[in-house]
Amino acid sequence: MKYGKKNIVFGFGYLIFTLLLGLFLSYKLQSDQPFAKEPFAFPRVIMRAAHAHGNLESILSIIIGLIVDRLRVSDSLKKTISILAIFGAIMHSGMLYIMPVVTFSGNLALIGALSLITTTVLMAYSVSKGLD
Ligand code: HEM
Repeated sequence: MKYGKKNIVFGFGYLIFTLLLGLFLSYKLQSDQPFAKEPFAFPRVIMRAAHAHGNLESILSIIIGLIVDRLRVSDSLKKTISILAIFGAIMHSGMLYIMPVVTFSGNLALIGALSLITTTVLMAYSVSKGLD
């Protein structure tokens, strides 16, 4: 496993943080009445988005990690897919995750979103070439 291991390690590592954010949201909803009453107030709406997207992007990274080394494409394309998946998660849900403390980071989330779309397009193309 040449490229996929780092996606799998990153995916499980990042999933710990995004699941813990779910636990924190659950605690806040039960212990903080004003927080619980305002589903679309900042920072709840952003933490919920970071939790939901981060969970998905972790699992996407794990899935890509499991497949990427078996793709019948060049090594440079495999490496690009692998790095873009991690970069996309950090720049998308990662930037939302830190937004309650680093407010401008939300503006960077678009870069992550575009990386994730690019990775997915490259994966679709690569899988269509076949798997070993
Ligand atoms: C892979 C596992 C998980 C996935 C895919 C997931 C997904 C989601 C999604 C999509 C939402 C948004 C729902 C909405 O906006 O209506 C959400 C919200 C929430 N999740 Fe998770 N979740 C996971 C694990 C957890 C865990 C382990 C906890 C806590 C123990 C948790 C606690 C919460 C809470 C409290 C909310 C509501 C937050 C709010 O309304 O502000 N989640 N989750």
